[in-house]
Amino acid sequence: MTERQILVAANWKMNGTLETIRPLLQSVIQGVQGITTEVAICPPSIYIPELAVQLNGSDISLGAQNVSHLEAGAYTGEISASMLKDFGCQYVIVGHSERRALYAENDALVARKFIAVQAKGMTPILCVGELLQERESNNTEEVIARQLDAVIELAGIEAFKNAVVAYEPVWAIGTGKTATPEQAQEVHEFIRLRLARHDNETADNVRVLYGGSVKADNAEQLFKMADIDGGLIGGASLVAEDFLTICKAMR
Ligand code: 13P
Repeated sequence: MTERQILVAANWKMNGTLETIRPLLQSVIQGVQGITTEVAICPPSIYIPELAVQLNGSDISLGAQNVSHLEAGAYTGEISASMLKDFGCQYVIVGHSERRALYAENDALVARKFIAVQAKGMTPILCVGELLQERESNNTEEVIARQLDAVIELAGIEAFKNAVVAYEPVWAIGTGKTATPEQAQEVHEFIRLRLARHDNETADNVRVLYGGSVKADNAEQLFKMADIDGGLIGGASLVAEDFLTICKAMR
């Protein structure tokens, strides 16, 4: 089996002020020194320039939470992939369930964002995940397949050579209801199988993160599972001590 390096990515969502993120960042920078896990932080986009400066010289990667699918033009309020690239972003989250639910982003739009990120040499973190009613009606795999296939159709399986997938069951986000390691593993394995229909090696190498109420006390159990390669962390990434414990949770 391929050894995939664990990635722990913080999604700060729309939280923080300069006053709160500066000490948080300093604690995280110091706390992750010497660890083998890769760590990334995705702050609100207005703070990307600040983080680009602070993270300079550290091993922490910088990411964004969203991007426009378009290159440039009269699109008030939007931020393009080249702008994120300008400030040293390496990762960009696309298709987060909050964007799908609150800003009406559909699979086709998410696929275009995925391509826009890669076109500028950055790595998309593609979020997929089912709603509670979809899980309860046994449609989890169908939903995940649809979300993955939309990207494969537009970008091709090749595109997953430089991508991360994040499985975030919507019912587990911010609710304190984590998927059990077994529940998560089952879907992670399905994601890999779905990609393997096109290319085995790509499916084997792609990192699949779990997100949804990952906390200091459950990260290790999750990261131990064969197909879970780290986490996308919301709430717990805003508390340095908790986030650092998650970053240090080993396989
Ligand atoms: P929580 O860790 O707060 O559940 O958020 C998960 C998430 O949405 C990360 O992108």
